[in-house]
Amino acid sequence: MPGVVIVGTQWGDEGKGKIVDILASSADLIVRFQGGSNAGHTVVIGSKKVVLHQIPSGILSPRKKCIIGNGVVLDLEQLLNEIRDIKALGYMKDDSSLQISDEAQLVMPYHKRIDLAKERARGKSKIGTTGRGIGPAYEDKVARIGIRLIDLFDQELFRDKLAQALKEKNWYLSRFGEEGFELYEIFHDFLGMAAKIKKYVTNTSLVVNHGLKRGESVLFEGAQGTMLDVDHGTYPYVTSSNTVAAQACTGSGIGPTMINCVMGVSKAYTTRVGSGPFPTELTDEIGERLREKGGEYGATTGRPRRCGWFDAVVVRYAVRINGIDSIALTKLDVLSGLPSVKICTGYRFKKKVFTEAPSSLRVWQECVPVYEEMAGWPEDISAVRDIKGLPRNAKSYVKKIEEMIGVKIILVSLGNERKQTILLENPFKKIHTVGTKRSR
Ligand code: GDP
Ligand code: IMO
Ligand code: MG
Repeated sequence: MPGVVIVGTQWGDEGKGKIVDILASSADLIVRFQGGSNAGHTVVIGSKKVVLHQIPSGILSPRKKCIIGNGVVLDLEQLLNEIRDIKALGYMKDDSSLQISDEAQLVMPYHKRIDLAKERARGKSKIGTTGRGIGPAYEDKVARIGIRLIDLFDQELFRDKLAQALKEKNWYLSRFGEEGFELYEIFHDFLGMAAKIKKYVTNTSLVVNHGLKRGESVLFEGAQGTMLDVDHGTYPYVTSSNTVAAQACTGSGIGPTMINCVMGVSKAYTTRVGSGPFPTELTDEIGERLREKGGEYGATTGRPRRCGWFDAVVVRYAVRINGIDSIALTKLDVLSGLPSVKICTGYRFKKKVFTEAPSSLRVWQECVPVYEEMAGWPEDISAVRDIKGLPRNAKSYVKKIEEMIGVKIILVSLGNERKQTILLENPFKKIHTVGTKRSR
């Protein structure tokens, strides 16, 4: 029962889509377990660039089963568009390659309007959400007034739940000076979409568990990143789901004993999109250079990403919170040409230096990073295919990160294409060589 979880170790956009696409060739099932269309996972195959928002990145590999688990908040309109776009590119030829949990919560039109209205009302302290209705949808789930995918297939129940929700939502929206929604407009729209999506809907916990029991390899694809986790991130500047590895279990209906490895994805520097603390942020020309060379613009919203140095405090914290046992380091190519590179080793706050991630937002916001500076490398490394082929200074940089976070880097990515990857160890192959028992 080889289960491998992939999670972001920073503030999202670490390159999870590319890494999932690479490892999908060793997996049978690929499962999304949280978040929703706020995610934007980019996969580049030859001249084709695909951005996936809700469908697992494994959909671009033939003969893989892709699952959207119960922990995802599902935007049906976006999903239908995504399916249409993927099919137009020649992928997902077989409809049975996608299965969606009947327990997934739905993002409703009022969630999106509320998300935008609340952000506007927050003014300067806005979170900088993606505006996809994610927070309000998870709020309703926890408040036990959410509408689940399965509800759409019982018209009477759906109408009653919708009527009850709209009473509350229309009142709430009016407080923000926003227009409300008409029951039958949503009702008919959603019944239309339900008919189109029905063939994909099933009990996905059964599918994943059966797969694991049969010895199939399952890849769990995290969205966002550890520092956006609603419990462990830079609260309140976070998303509204648990983004950490443990959520792979609750978000797909499996037990923790089914997970063998947790792989973290880390960018060789740091980015963040939206508001909130970011100790190593660079607002100078180096930050600008990272943004331009790294193409750091949001895959979902197109917003420019804030850029900064690699933060070892953050990634070491992610290793702890997720139980990460290996790392994929991405975008090392982007650092080429800098005279020197810096790694943050601690945060100075009021004469004290924190080497562990603080809980207090004030420390995050007001701390001054402590750096270790290393020599850069002028060489373009995007065509390097072997770790030995990296310039000495680039190798030292990778080694230093490894030492600081205490976990092995088993994959180094040097460009957005599949071939621009040095895979030192495949987590699935490692599990298989030690049999089907847990390897740890
Ligand atoms: P995700 O949300 O974690 O899947 O990451 P995004 O897709 O939002 O952002 C990562 C971006 O970096 C995408 O445009 C990828 O195509 C690109 N990318 C991934 N790995 C590398 C790499 O090693 N080098 C470069 N230059 N780009 C990369
Ligand atoms: P992937 O999976 C980067 C950020 C938003 C905002 C905060 C809350 O592509 O790495 P939300 O809409 O979730 O309520 O916004 O979280 N955010 C992401 N940042 N990558 C993502 O996903 C993100 N998903 C949400 O920018 O700061
Ligand atoms: Mg992204």
